[in-house]
Amino acid sequence: MTTTNITKAAQALIEDEIIAIPTETVYGLAGNAYSENALKKIFELKKRPFYNPLIVHIKSTAFLDIVASDIPDMAWKLAEEFWPGSLTLVLKKQPHIPDIITAGKATVAVRVPNHPIALALLEQLEFPLAAPSANPFGCISPTTAMHVSNYFKENLQVILDGGVCQNGIESTIIGFENDKPILYRHGSISVKDIERIVGKVLIITNEDCSPDAPGMLSRHYAPKTDTYLTDNVSELIPSFSGKKIGLLLFKDKIKSAENILQEVLSKKGNLAEAAKNLYATMHRLDKSNLDVIIAERLPNKGLGKSINDRLERAIKK
Ligand code: TXA
Ligand code: MG
Repeated sequence: MTTTNITKAAQALIEDEIIAIPTETVYGLAGNAYSENALKKIFELKKRPFYNPLIVHIKSTAFLDIVASDIPDMAWKLAEEFWPGSLTLVLKKQPHIPDIITAGKATVAVRVPNHPIALALLEQLEFPLAAPSANPFGCISPTTAMHVSNYFKENLQVILDGGVCQNGIESTIIGFENDKPILYRHGSISVKDIERIVGKVLIITNEDCSPDAPGMLSRHYAPKTDTYLTDNVSELIPSFSGKKIGLLLFKDKIKSAENILQEVLSKKGNLAEAAKNLYATMHRLDKSNLDVIIAERLPNKGLGKSINDRLERAIKK
């Protein structure tokens, strides 16, 4: 990526355009966080309902108290440990943060992305960037510039190409109630790693949290192809005899299913590698003209929890 491209991207943002940017988690659809006009364009392009708030991206921790106020000590500790990085903090918002970003809430979600292009771009700007993942609402998130272009080619003047996203799933979202940490969305940083810094984290379940963290909406990150999730893929295959099946597997192919399209997330059984490959694999399977995708549930620990969370939301309900 050349500096010229970043300068061109910055210029587009200054002119209230929205553009696609790479981050270490997934690609984002970015616009000036202080411009209602740009923010409206983001919602429109994504077909995102206005009740679903956006994440604000800042260039460094030093800018946190420009967007948030009453920041608890635990939030500073987490920021110090994980920023730049894949942790989003939900904090009390400063009054000048537009209501459209926060869906009228008193809180704002904020993070410092850990990608050289996103950081170089923020460095050229005098405003933070609001950026949801660069996919139409409910669809599979993008981890390459090509995924973004497949969704939005006609509508975006600038798609900054930063290669394949290193982490591959969205940031972990943490908020605070009575100074206690609460997980709103599983993500790139495991709960265990967060708990190392701030102790026990309360995990909000699907039922209680949908108004608060719509990232938890039950059908989200979904392929167009009917998708099923199971601990035992071999057992489920016969239920779809006569159908074109694709398998989304953790580390081992299924020997008895040679004629079936099989995709493996990490041959080594490495959860970080599986997370990195998850969405690209889902995009590929979804484009393979299948009748059904059968996904294998991963070991439910560390990043496996975040991957299982995305798979749960991808399945047919
Ligand atoms: O990794 C990421 O976080 C990516 C990259 C581009 O930074 N962004 C991303 O944005 O995943 P998006 O819009 O797809 O997801 C934002 C999530 C939504 O689930 C939203 O509900 C939640 O953040 N959120 C935003 N503001 C919130 C708030 N005030 N309280 C609770 N949840 C909030
Ligand atoms: Mg998203």
